[in-house]
Amino acid sequence: MLRIDKMLSNLKYGSRKEIDKAIREKRVEINGKVCKSAKVKVDPKKDEVMFDGEVVYYEESILLMLNKPKGYVSANHDDLHPTVFDFVYDPYHRFDLKIAGRLDIDTEGLLLLTNDGQMLHEIIHPSKNVYKEYYVTVDQPFDPSVLLDEMVIMDGNNAPYTPMKPEVEVVDDLHFYLRIKEGKFHQVKRMVAHYGREVIALKRTKIGDLSLGDLPLGEMVEVDIEQIKG
Ligand code: URA
Repeated sequence: MLRIDKMLSNLKYGSRKEIDKAIREKRVEINGKVCKSAKVKVDPKKDEVMFDGEVVYYEESILLMLNKPKGYVSANHDDLHPTVFDFVYDPYHRFDLKIAGRLDIDTEGLLLLTNDGQMLHEIIHPSKNVYKEYYVTVDQPFDPSVLLDEMVIMDGNNAPYTPMKPEVEVVDDLHFYLRIKEGKFHQVKRMVAHYGREVIALKRTKIGDLSLGDLPLGEMVEVDIEQIKG
């Protein structure tokens, strides 16, 4: 149970003060009845809350999967480029979403957004043993099994970093799947560059057991953390 004013302010319907005013103006209803006080407690799973005649969608913890196209930055704001948040539509834009494992601007594929800090940690922390799978296209013929050997690359702070042992699956001379546990800045590109090849296209296809499936580019769906854990 949580207070109606807290629920609505969490969802960015306004400050507690503004919501208090909206309640006094009879703009909030709970189970079909006008809400009389900001102190009323609701059970978001059972009670139907309406604001200005529209149903309020509330989840304490939400996880969204986007099939990110190229050209979009994994950030809340960017002065030059559109961001992945351009794909977040109503009612999800009301949640305080964070990106669980960013993708480069020229990378496409599976991107997760969540409002739940614990969930974010479960997904992206290497100690959680969640593999992130990438479909990699390189510029010249390459045997990706060399990526299984220990190597040192630079991380996002330009400090030397030894990636954890990945998994590889050859498709053909120019394409392979690479599964890594971490998500260091440009990690896949830097691992491949270590062997003198360039990644010319990169797509994240899976996180744990969750795969993009047939989700079209630029579309977003709600998913369950259990789908990642398998
Ligand atoms: N590795 C990269 O090099 N880029 C990404 O976007 C993700 C992983």
